[in-house]
Amino acid sequence: MSTWFITGISRGFGRIMTEELLRRGHTVIGTTRNGKGPLEHDNLRVVSMDVNDPDQVVATMQAAVQAAGHIDVVVNNAGYGLVGAVEEVSDAEVDHVMATNFGGTHRVIKAALPFLRAQGSGHIVNFSSVGGFTGSAGFGIYCASKFAVEGMSEALAVELKPLGIGVTIVEPGYFRTEFLSHDSAVVAVAHIPAYADTAGQTRSNVNAVDGRQAGDPAKGVAVIIDAVESGNPPFRLPLGADSIARIEQKMAHVQADIEAWRSRAMATAFDG
Ligand SMILES: NC(=O)c1ccc[n+]([C@@H]2O[C@H](COP(=O)([O-])OP(=O)(O)OC[C@H]3O[C@@H](n4cnc5c(N)ncnc54)[C@H](OP(=O)(O)O)[C@@H]3O)[C@@H](O)[C@H]2O)c1
Repeated sequence: MSTWFITGISRGFGRIMTEELLRRGHTVIGTTRNGKGPLEHDNLRVVSMDVNDPDQVVATMQAAVQAAGHIDVVVNNAGYGLVGAVEEVSDAEVDHVMATNFGGTHRVIKAALPFLRAQGSGHIVNFSSVGGFTGSAGFGIYCASKFAVEGMSEALAVELKPLGIGVTIVEPGYFRTEFLSHDSAVVAVAHIPAYADTAGQTRSNVNAVDGRQAGDPAKGVAVIIDAVESGNPPFRLPLGADSIARIEQKMAHVQADIEAWRSRAMATAFDG
């Protein structure tokens, strides 16, 4: 049985993953911003942590390792969606979502790595999104925060492999958590009429889709845990038929763009 450190277990993927891990006999150290746990269990320790508070992240990780003796898996789950056209989103809105989704993930990784390196083992699971692989209208800045998670994770995986530590990024499509609810998703304050048919459409869809997402988070977390427990977890784990379809569509578009300009693009080295 292993010990998992998970950020943001108050609800959604974090809560459901906690429940499933406890059911499988693992130990969970889970963070919530108000310090209250979604459930009580002998193998669950709930700690108060905002991923945007650097000192709290370091202190919480130290206390968690002291209490548990070691941590096997770190899950960076905490995050939220920001809806708005790129031009509509304010600097403050950009800063906050980047600080939470990317900065929070980076902070937790930095706090955990001295312990994982000392152990010579461990696995880091970073929640990205299908939006961390391909951008979509109305989610541009949220996608940027998840692209940042993916770029960092790709480098991290190479850096940590020789140290015996693994990395997996999870790319869910739409799953029925509270992600799209008014409590979670932030809508940019500014609305520009020119984007009514693109980002504006996404804004309307968010309310319509909330509660009707095809993805079952219980099935999603089972796949994530199975992958980590497999002993040979993938680096990239897309979740949901919608995620896989959009990722394959993007790969085909990238390949088509390369082919269309391959000969010209290849012929750009200095002569000789
Ligand atoms: N559900 C989807 O369709 C979907 C799709 C792609 C990716 N994802 C990703 O999956 C992850 C989990 O989201 P979810 O779907 O489970 O959404 P959710 O139901 O809204 O849960 C989000 C969790 O993140 C926590 N959180 C937010 N900001 C935080 C902060 N600054 N510090 C600490 N915790 C914070 C929330 O805690 P509080 O209760 O304190 O607010 C909550 O526990 C996110 O990274 C999200 O981007 C979700």
